[in-house]
Formats: sequence, structure tokens, C-alpha cells
Amino acid sequence: MTPRPSPLYLRMALYIGAAIAGFVLLGLASLVLVASKQLESYLEAREGNLGRDAAQVLASGGRPALRQWMTTPGTLPDGVTVYVLDGEGRDLGGRDLPPQYVRFVDRFVLGAVRDEDDNFRPIRLAPLLVAPDGQRYAFLLLPERIAPWGSPAALAALTIAALIVIAVVAALIARAFGRPIGDLQSVVRALSNGQISSRAPAELTARRDELGELARDFDAMAMQIENLLASRQQLMRDMSHELRSPLARLQAAIALAERKHPLPPAEHGRIVAELDRMNQAIGDVLRLTRLESEPIRSKHLLKLDVFLSDLVTDERDEATTREVGLVLESATSLEVVADPQLLRSGFENVLRNAIRYAPARSVVDVNTHRDPGNEKTIVVTIEDRGPGVPPEMLERIFEPYTRLSADADDGQGSGLGLAIARRVFEAHGGRITAEVAEPCGLRVRILLPAAC
Ligand SMILES: Nc1ncnc2c1ncn2[C@@H]1O[C@H](COP(=O)(O)OP(=O)(O)O)[C@@H](O)[C@H]1O
Ligand SMILES: [Mg+2]
Repeated sequence: MTPRPSPLYLRMALYIGAAIAGFVLLGLASLVLVASKQLESYLEAREGNLGRDAAQVLASGGRPALRQWMTTPGTLPDGVTVYVLDGEGRDLGGRDLPPQYVRFVDRFVLGAVRDEDDNFRPIRLAPLLVAPDGQRYAFLLLPERIAPWGSPAALAALTIAALIVIAVVAALIARAFGRPIGDLQSVVRALSNGQISSRAPAELTARRDELGELARDFDAMAMQIENLLASRQQLMRDMSHELRSPLARLQAAIALAERKHPLPPAEHGRIVAELDRMNQAIGDVLRLTRLESEPIRSKHLLKLDVFLSDLVTDERDEATTREVGLVLESATSLEVVADPQLLRSGFENVLRNAIRYAPARSVVDVNTHRDPGNEKTIVVTIEDRGPGVPPEMLERIFEPYTRLSADADDGQGSGLGLAIARRVFEAHGGRITAEVAEPCGLRVRILLPAAC
């Protein structure tokens, strides 16, 4: 069984078929019009008295009078030309016969002029004129042009008409297919940019062709993704909450047990540190899920140089312990609108990574400036001279729990630091990317919209 032709296919075939049919009809119509106009005046001239007039002129004034008569404008109707030929095919007016007529004229016209003594007399297509001295001439009327393309005006008109037809049909096709596809494309882009509740416009989903089907499939897919994300977030949130209370109870129980039977300090310290770490990891999961599902609420105007200088001061102790220098270079008068706590956690995660991976006696640079290409964007770069990240991992380190090596799991992070930072900056209308620094190390680039 052959599959039924689809509506979109039919519509396309219809448009293209209509275009070709329109073009062919237009071409034929103009061809017939031009040709019949030319033939009309030619036939009129043949049916008229031109031959008889010419014979009279020749009889009364001889060849010079006939030559004059032939060349006087207005004697002949438009689109018709006349040749007065002697037996050799020479025209009285001195013009050459168009080459395509020469053989034909010689066979069917000039025989009578030459008065050949032959018992074969083909039909004579032209009247004979006889001069006073007895010399015979063939009076040959021809259409001036017999093809429409002989006329530049007709050719130009035909081309313009064809172009107009093609342009109109092309515009129709573009409108019919281009607009819905463009609409769908912007929804797909919105979805891939994280606007998870984007759906195809209603007039698209209501269509009964493949585009409508595609739009409905897209909507179903978007809904599925939205549900999946929502349930994943819910699961993460529930799990973290469920883990929190037993963890708190465990901490309390250990403190109680320690009082009864003190443990060696090293072991006790390790247990407490691991419990703290677990607490921190659960807190990070909660922070990340909240960032994914809720828009930022508190918005303050922040001076970025002051904000970053406070942050750098707070991290200086940790840097000094690791013998790492911290240098802040910040342009003044750069302001952003942000939730201060969230923004701080975003920058903190990046800066702490840089300090953690920087080798002793190296420097971590924090630099802030306006984007030279776009005045409305502020760029913050945080750069270290550590081992860096291989180019193929530069994007993946922003995904939750991506760690480059097992030693990164040294109890210092939950594996969610950069994932949280990305959500924080995106929630503020910004972006965060990582690149390979020169001569070595990692440069993290953060773009934020300037407040003014
Ligand atoms: N400045 C850096 N230099 C080298 N590698 C880094 C740097 N920052 C992050 N990384 C890599 O990216 C991974 C993810 O970082 P992050 O999300 O902060 O998680 P965590 O710090 O808890 O491991 C790290 O485990 C590390 O492998
Ligand atoms: Mg980290």
C-alpha cells in the first residue's frame, strides 16, 4: 500500500504546481497575443490593394517612382515590409532579403519573374508587376518580424511578468512555511535557554498538517521535560530534608556519647568533620534546587568593587595559609542589581576553587571591567596559575558532581560549587564560562548586566 500524501507535501506541490502553471499560461498568452497582433496586420496588408497601387505607380512613374513609393513612410502598414524583386532576386529598394527567405523566394516566387520555360509552375505567392519597358518584378509582402522574441519590448514584458509571478509565489511559499517554522524555532530556542514553560503558539498547534503535528509533539515533549525536572527537583528536596533530621540527631548522639566515653581527639575530630561535610553537601543540594525552581527575590543595587573587595578580604586568611596572593583590580562605578547573598555565594565558589588549586607562592587575579564591546555588560575574571582544566572539560565542570580527579574530592567541596555559581549568575541575567589561561591555569569569566 502506498502511503497517503501528507498535507504539507500536498500544499507544497500545490504552490509549486500553481507557480509553474501560472508561468506557462502567462508565457503562452503573451506569445499568442504578440504573434496574432503581427499576423493580423500582415494579413490585412495582403488582403488590401497594395499590389495594385504599386502597379499603378510603376506604370505611371517607372522605377524611380516605385522606389520612392516604397520608401515613403506611411505607405505600408506597421509590421509589414515589401520587396520588389527582379529575376535575380535583387530588390528595387536595394535591400537584402532576410537569409531565411532566400531559398524559398527563389523556388516559389522568382520563377514567374524569370518566366522560365518549364512545364512545372509552382504556385505563385507574389503578384507580378510589369514595368513600362516589359521588365517583370515580384511584389513580395513579408511580416516584418515573425517571432515575439524579435521584439525587445515583448521580451522585456515577458521577463518582467515571469519575475512578478515567481516573486509572488515565492513570497506565498515563504509565508506559508517560513513563518510557522520561525515561530517554532523561537519556542525551541526559548526552551533550550531554560524557559522550560515555553509552548508552541496556539495557531500552530491548531494546524492540521505536519507543522501542526510537529508543534503538538514539541509541546508534549516540553511538558514531559518540565514534569521530569519538577519531579527531580522534588526528589532532591525531599531527600535532603529526609537526610537532615537523622544527621542532626546523629550529631547530637555523638556529642552525648563523647561526653560519656571520650574518643581519642583525632578520631572525634574526623567524625565531626565528616558530619559537617555531609551537612554542607545537603545544604548545597537544597540551595541548588531552590535556585532552579524559584526566581531571585531580594534585589539590591551593589557597587561591585566594594562587594568584591569585601569578599577578597574574607578569603585572604585562607589564601595566606596556602601561601597564595590575592590581587583585586576593579574599575570603580560598576554597579549591578542583585541578591547580595546569592551573588556572594556565586563568587565565593569560584574564588575558593581558584585559591584551592593555585600553587604556593602564585597569585590569583580578580579583575573587573566594563565589556569594551558592550557598555551594558560587566566582566569579572578570576584567574589562577593552577593545573587548569582540559579544553574538553571546560563546559562540563559546571555540571553537578563533575570532578576532574579523585583528589579533588579532598573534603573541600560538595561537587556543586560551579553548578550553583552558574545558576546564580544566570538567575541574575548573566553568564559564567571557563577558559584555559596563559601560560597555565584556569580563567573563569563572569558576565553580568550593568545596573546603568
Ligand atoms: N580553578 C580551578 N582549577 C582547576 N580545576 C578546577 C578549578 N575550579 C574547578 N575545577 C574543577 O572543576 C570541578 C568542579 O568544581 P566545583 O563545582 O567547585 O566542585 P568541587 O570544588 O566541590 O569539586 C572541580 O572538582 C575541579 O576538578
Ligand atoms: Mg568548589
